[in-house]
Amino acid sequence: MKILLLGSGGREHALAWKIAQSKKCDKLYIAPGNPGTTECGENIAIGVSEFDKLKEFAAENHVDMLVVGPEDPLVNGIADVFHADPRTKHIAVIGPSRAGAVLEGSKDFAKAFMSRHHIPTAAYRTFDATNLNEGMKFLETLRPPYVLKADGLAAGKGVLIVPTLDEAKAELREMLGGMFGNASAKVVIEEFLSGIECSVFVLTDGEHYKILPEAKDYKRIGEHDTGLNTGGMGSVSPVPFANAEWMRKVEEQIILPTISGLKSEGIDYKGFIFFGLINVEDNPMVIEYNCRMGDPETETVMLRLKSDLVELFEGVAAGDLDRREVVFDERAAVCVMLVSGGYPRQYAKGCPITGIEAVDGSVVFHSGTTMKEGTLLTNGGRVIAVSSYGSNKEEALRKSFTEAEKIVYKDKYFRRDIGADL
Ligand code: AMP
Ligand code: GLY
Repeated sequence: MKILLLGSGGREHALAWKIAQSKKCDKLYIAPGNPGTTECGENIAIGVSEFDKLKEFAAENHVDMLVVGPEDPLVNGIADVFHADPRTKHIAVIGPSRAGAVLEGSKDFAKAFMSRHHIPTAAYRTFDATNLNEGMKFLETLRPPYVLKADGLAAGKGVLIVPTLDEAKAELREMLGGMFGNASAKVVIEEFLSGIECSVFVLTDGEHYKILPEAKDYKRIGEHDTGLNTGGMGSVSPVPFANAEWMRKVEEQIILPTISGLKSEGIDYKGFIFFGLINVEDNPMVIEYNCRMGDPETETVMLRLKSDLVELFEGVAAGDLDRREVVFDERAAVCVMLVSGGYPRQYAKGCPITGIEAVDGSVVFHSGTTMKEGTLLTNGGRVIAVSSYGSNKEEALRKSFTEAEKIVYKDKYFRRDIGADL
């Protein structure tokens, strides 16, 4: 089978790494990919939003399957666009239709969906510029801190958590005034939930589903969860509190009603669902849905997935995922993200990276790197994920921290407390 994978981050390198191990994959293309994915397949210089070029490439090169890494092309309807074109409609797309991707593309839709299907989530209301004053009054009924979310995609920056009522009111006014452009034309205000977060991933063919290994990610830049939010500084799987009893609740109260809700609403969903959950007094509640895998969770989840990923994708396409097997690796897996000094604020790009070849026994996934005249350079805030196995998370973390030291570039930074809270 010929597979085209879209994306260029650590998540996509991890997916490419896993896909390339499949007996079923004869050829893997990655568009646009990164220097790391060249070890797994052939990079193609087409961006994830260039739908016409992607279709043309897929048709000309007899691609059988399109695997979509990031949310943007999904929310913009890449699955529908491929299905609507006679040249590409036979290609299996791993990723939901535009209607399914709305679970991530509109927080208002996601909240209303959860409410229709009685899925546990924070109480909320949605406001726009026409009822700003009602929004102000609603804020007065809540207790601090206040959670305000831009309805649409805002590059992971659309959620504000503010400590005082005055700040919440000011932020609401600014958001509705265009702070995140059209993405904040509507704002969801919701109750603050207190607990530990956990990411749960499901692969579905629209009828059946398989639960993948869960993971916890570390979003803040500073140790002990301090400082600004980032794209993710590391991840750990398994998550100790996500034991059989907790996962039973997740499946019964969240996964099942989500899958059956999508089906009952006539929404075509074939792909990953990422449930961003929070553990509130031993009960799972949904913080958000994403229509894709998580980053940096994928950099540990792929290590813990023993099954052939392409065989599971075939099940998604054929609608017989129930007959496919998901086997977890019993070992723990972790990833430690090496970032550029200054990230998530200002940081330098183009710094030479050395020492990757010295890494032994861990898996190095490229996130923000580029190759220029044979030299590997930093090219983003999150640069490299160092993923490791261990008999437990402590052993895996020791391994990642040791190997992370071998990779050298100017102002390298990573959190040394990943997994320490669990
Ligand atoms: P999101 O972009 O929806 O993942 O939100 C970003 C982060 O904000 C989440 O990962 C949580 O840490 C936090 N968050 C979002 N909603 C809530 C909530 N209702 N209560 C507490 N924390 C929240
Ligand atoms: N790790 C969180 C995300 O991918 O959105």
